[in-house]
Amino acid sequence: MFKYPKVNYIGNKEKIAKWICDQFPEDAKTLFDAFSGGCSLSYETKCRGLEVYTNDILKVNYHIANALIQNNQIVLDKNDIELIFSGKPFEGFMFENYANVFFFPEECKELDLYRSNIEKLDSKEKKSLAFALMRRAMIRKMPYSRFTLNWDKILQLRDEEYSYQKYKRKRAYHNESFKHHFLENVDEYNNAIFDNRKNNVAYNDDIFNLIENVKADIIYLDPPYTGTMNNYFGFYGLIDDFISSKKTEPFENNFVSKSEAILLFDKLFSKLNNFKYWFLSYNNSSYPSKEELLYLLNKYSDNVQVIERKHNYQITGKNKKETNKEFLFIVKNELYQENIKEIYVTAEL
Ligand SMILES: C[S@@+](CC[C@H](N)C(=O)[O-])C[C@H]1O[C@@H](n2cnc3c(N)ncnc32)[C@H](O)[C@@H]1O
Repeated sequence: MFKYPKVNYIGNKEKIAKWICDQFPEDAKTLFDAFSGGCSLSYETKCRGLEVYTNDILKVNYHIANALIQNNQIVLDKNDIELIFSGKPFEGFMFENYANVFFFPEECKELDLYRSNIEKLDSKEKKSLAFALMRRAMIRKMPYSRFTLNWDKILQLRDEEYSYQKYKRKRAYHNESFKHHFLENVDEYNNAIFDNRKNNVAYNDDIFNLIENVKADIIYLDPPYTGTMNNYFGFYGLIDDFISSKKTEPFENNFVSKSEAILLFDKLFSKLNNFKYWFLSYNNSSYPSKEELLYLLNKYSDNVQVIERKHNYQITGKNKKETNKEFLFIVKNELYQENIKEIYVTAEL
């Protein structure tokens, strides 16, 4: 069977993807993963033969989806890899903006070289796959796997002696090269690409712009959990900057602030007419509460159930794993009109 590669996405659903997919009704043939992140749920859904549409506001996540979900066959071969790592590192956008901010100057120059080489690959799929792998390499080199640390802390955690004294772990992988990590993962990513004989599509937009233009049997909602560590722009915006070679702006509708969360959920739920089943992931340590979410969902359907199970998010940088109860809200949209298009077409004939 095909295997989801090591993506390491904060808030991912890799460990519970099977459990979530097991709840899907049998008549469902298409799924829209509206906040797809590292695509763990989309990948499991693709494996099960559904047609999958993904969306995420971050560019890097679009590339993960384009490489692993929309792409059914294209992989990186030996020549592509040679091309990516050919030439001499130079002082470009990453060097100018992020030397001694997130990486050492020499490392930034390497990133500038790799970025310009990725542009020379001969297909969009290859570029996306290269970005997904370069992301993996950048994350491996970054303490705590997120770009919300300051340089002093990064230096400290990349100091292998210090790390060993303090944590009894050298974390030597932070000091391996980007190329090392890329090569270590490339086979696994290539092998994860497969054809499920469906027209899978990856989108890259604010969900509030896109939602009314996509139609599927199921919508899966896995938004940032308000009240927990959920600043996705902070975690990964740096990789978007690398991809676009410019500083990107933080995005709105980010579910960070508690004062906006209820309004955002209410607005989101009001736009889900195109989906017969709604699946929403949330947990017991986030805001709004299960009861408040139920109240909001019940405005649109009387057919709402919540199932739950234990799920621990490993938060690197925190001493203990947080104990968490994961909720899955399952809604049957009673206002959904499956045949409206067909009825219209028949009437025309
Ligand atoms: C909890 S994560 C999804 C994790 C994913 N299910 C996985 O398994 O990897 C939430 C995602 O929502 C995205 N996001 C936040 N606000 C968004 C918005 N307004 N529109 C689209 N995506 C958004 C973030 O970039 C983040 O990737």
